[in-house]
Amino acid sequence: MNKLMKLKTSLAVPDMVLGQDVFSRPDHLIASAGTKLTDRLITRLKFYSIQDIVILASSAPRQGRQTVQPVPPKQASASATEGSYIGRIKASPEYRHFTATFYSSFISYKAQLNEVVQKKAPLKTEVLLADISKIFATCNNPNTLLDMMIGIRNLDDATFVHSMNVALICSLFAHWLKFDEKETLNLTLAGLLHDIGKMMIPPEIIKKPGKLTDEEYNIIKGHPRLGYDILKEQKVDEHVAMAALQHHERCDGRGYPNGLTLQEIAPYAKIVAIADVYDALTAARVYRGPVCPLEVIGIFQNEGLTIYDPKYLMTFLDQIMYSYLNYNVSLSNGETGRIILMQRNSLDKPVIALPDGRFLDLRDEPELSITGIV
Ligand SMILES: [Fe+2]
Ligand SMILES: [Fe+2]
Repeated sequence: MNKLMKLKTSLAVPDMVLGQDVFSRPDHLIASAGTKLTDRLITRLKFYSIQDIVILASSAPRQGRQTVQPVPPKQASASATEGSYIGRIKASPEYRHFTATFYSSFISYKAQLNEVVQKKAPLKTEVLLADISKIFATCNNPNTLLDMMIGIRNLDDATFVHSMNVALICSLFAHWLKFDEKETLNLTLAGLLHDIGKMMIPPEIIKKPGKLTDEEYNIIKGHPRLGYDILKEQKVDEHVAMAALQHHERCDGRGYPNGLTLQEIAPYAKIVAIADVYDALTAARVYRGPVCPLEVIGIFQNEGLTIYDPKYLMTFLDQIMYSYLNYNVSLSNGETGRIILMQRNSLDKPVIALPDGRFLDLRDEPELSITGIV
C-alpha cells in the first residue's frame, strides 16, 4: 500500500501525487486523490490558502525539498529576453532607475521596521511613503509598474520585498480607484505594513522548511493581530491598522482571524488581500521562476468572485488586463507568440500572433495554455 505524507503546500512541487482529496470547503473539491500536481494546481491550492496537503510518499523527491534544484527564472537571463517586450523593458533606463530606487528604499524600509519592532522606535510613515512614492514615480506610466516588478520578483521574495510590492500594487489600486491623496497614502501604507506582525514571529517558524505543527500554524496565523497591536500602539490611521488585522479575512467567511464576511471586512483590507495574494502567487519559487501572471489572473477571474469583494476584484482584472498586451509568451506546445488582444471574459486566453503570421485565439484551443512570459 502506498504510504501517505503530509506536506506544507509551499513545499509542493510538480509531479507529486495527491494522496487525499483537497477541498476548499466541504462542498467544493479542488483536486481529487491521485491527481498529479502541476504548477497551475499548486498555484490554485495557494490561491485557496490550503496550508497543507497529503501526497503519496512515493511521489516525493527523496529527503524532501533539498533534492529540488532551484531553477533560475527564465526572465533572469538577458540573452533569453533580448528582443522580447520584457527584455526591452529590462534594458530601458526607466527599469534601471526603478530597480535602483527600489533597492535603496528596501534597505531603509527594513532598517526602520527593525527599529520599530525591536526597539519600539516611532514609525516614520512620511519617510516610508516618500520612498514608495519615489519608486512609483520612476514609472512614466503607472501601468508599467507591474512590468517593472517582474524583474524585482525574480531577485528576492523575502517578506520585506513582498510588503513593498504589495504597497506598490496598492498605490496602483488607488490610482485606478481615483482615490484622493490622503486615501492613496493610507492605502499604500496599509500595503506596506500589512505583514508587520510577522516580524514578531520567531524566524525559525517563518523560515522552517519542513512541515509545520498545528501549534506553529496557529502562531503564524497570529500575525494579523500582532500587526494590529503594533500599529495601534504607533497610532497609525485606523484604516491602516484594520488592513493588518483583516487582510487574511475572505468574503466567503473562510479567512482568519475572525471569519468575517463581505459586509464586515474593511475596504482597505479587501484591497490589500487582492494585492497580497497576487504578489504571493506570482513570486518566484524555490524550484522555478515566477508563475505566469496571466495564469494567476485567470485563477482570480474564474475562482475569486466569492472570495474577494467583486467591486475591487473587477477593478483589478479590468485594469490589469491591459498590462499584458504585447507580451511575448510561450505556449504549452512549445511555440512562442505575442499577445495582441485580451478577452475580458477569459483573461488567461488572449489572442496570440505567431511569428509565421497566424493568429491563435486561445478560447478556441482548449488544449493550449500560456506557460510563461519570455
Ligand atoms: Fe499576512
Ligand atoms: Fe502578505
